[in-house]
Amino acid sequence: MKFIIETYGCQMNVADSEMISTIMENSGYELTDSVDDADIIMFNTCSVRQNAEDRVIGRISNEVARKFNNKQLIVGVVGCMAQRLGKELNEINSKIDFVVGVDNYFQLPQIIEQIYNKRDFVYSVEMNHQEIYNEVYPVRKNNLNAFVTIMRGCNNFCTYCIVPYVRGRERSRSIDEVLNEIRFAGENGIQEVTLLGQNVNSYLWKDINFPKLLQQANKIDNIKRIRFVTSHPKDLSDELIETMANYDKICEHIHLPVQSGNNEILKMMNRNYTVEHYLNRINKLRELMPDIAITTDVIAGFPGESNEQFMDTYKLMEEVRYDFAFMFKYSPRTGTKAADYSNQIDEEIRLQRLQKLIDLQTEITHEKYKNQIGQIKEVYVEGPSKKDINEYSGKSRDFKITIFPGDESLVGKFVDVKVEEAAGWTLKGHIIK
Ligand code: SAH
Ligand code: SF4
Ligand code: F3S
Repeated sequence: MKFIIETYGCQMNVADSEMISTIMENSGYELTDSVDDADIIMFNTCSVRQNAEDRVIGRISNEVARKFNNKQLIVGVVGCMAQRLGKELNEINSKIDFVVGVDNYFQLPQIIEQIYNKRDFVYSVEMNHQEIYNEVYPVRKNNLNAFVTIMRGCNNFCTYCIVPYVRGRERSRSIDEVLNEIRFAGENGIQEVTLLGQNVNSYLWKDINFPKLLQQANKIDNIKRIRFVTSHPKDLSDELIETMANYDKICEHIHLPVQSGNNEILKMMNRNYTVEHYLNRINKLRELMPDIAITTDVIAGFPGESNEQFMDTYKLMEEVRYDFAFMFKYSPRTGTKAADYSNQIDEEIRLQRLQKLIDLQTEITHEKYKNQIGQIKEVYVEGPSKKDINEYSGKSRDFKITIFPGDESLVGKFVDVKVEEAAGWTLKGHIIK
């Protein structure tokens, strides 16, 4: 039987989809990339904001219509929405055959077999705060970059965030498991790894903390670049910053979500740092790595946010001058603390504030990218550019998409590109000999 997975949400879900594929393939199921061929369609879902959920519900309704012509088709939901809503999903859409939560992926092959034999809705969403999926080394379809999960879950309980409720308690994978998976990727020709966790800075296995893990990963042959997401400002230590600066494979980019530029709001968010601490970390990063790219996440219109408090976020973004930012309007999530705060901000105001941040950041990003003109970037070539098949594209160490004339033989290679032009969020140039 053939299956397909449609993935939403963060890179953790991307990695989970690869892991699910491996679990399924080990049980004899075959991955397909054509939904027309699939006997099983799975949606790996995200709950972080309401619009993320709404979008998936829409997609599911579209795909279950295929059951009209294909009576045997099995449709399932996994991931964070599966965890959050459980069997309620079957009430939302009765054509859904199974719902499997984030800690129960090992059960998927049996659950599907069970449905195949006896058409009945099945759900399994019990949490297991220890499940870490040891010894599943994903067979990757993408042979350029590997996403390696180093920890699962989150203990931070930021008051707006659903993740700790749907992903359970924080646990780190053993150092051996992590290094083996990176080695395995390297042996298969992959040269770039991205280490994943909701808060990778708090990785801890016995006495191995995150900087120590990075130092060990840096030794692995074949791997040329190491990236990681996400960092939490409260746990970004000097040791980590120094490790980034001193170990050659660790790329000059950090994603450091700030969320807000106002201390009272940060407190209401339970972020456990101040603006001063955050700026101190930025200064330290730039002191040791002057050209480091810094990206962030911000939320506009958190409950109780006054216009002045919002403007503190605006000013912080002006001050830090991020290379790029993911900006969101606050979305209340049932079950989180902030959803119960009585001082919710009007949708209209949240949207206006969001737009103001987007306008500011677009301008900053464009300026920052223009400043790159004339520089030489080391680019890891990923494939043809989306717009023009004679142009090839890849990322620089500081995570900027870079486009240049090239051909298929360059894919998977590192080239030096001289930047001649900045177009929106991409750099353009030519390979220099
Ligand atoms: N673990 C990561 C990312 C978690 S989700 C971290 O701690 O940074 C990614 C981003 O979604 C968050 O950084 C936050 O900016 C945003 N987000 C989370 N919950 C949200 C909500 N309820 N409304 C709007 N944005 C939210
Ligand atoms: Fe959510 Fe905060 Fe955990 Fe990130 S650190 S996943 S924002 S609770
Ligand atoms: Fe979404 Fe779950 Fe990731 S809620 S952001 S897919 S951990």
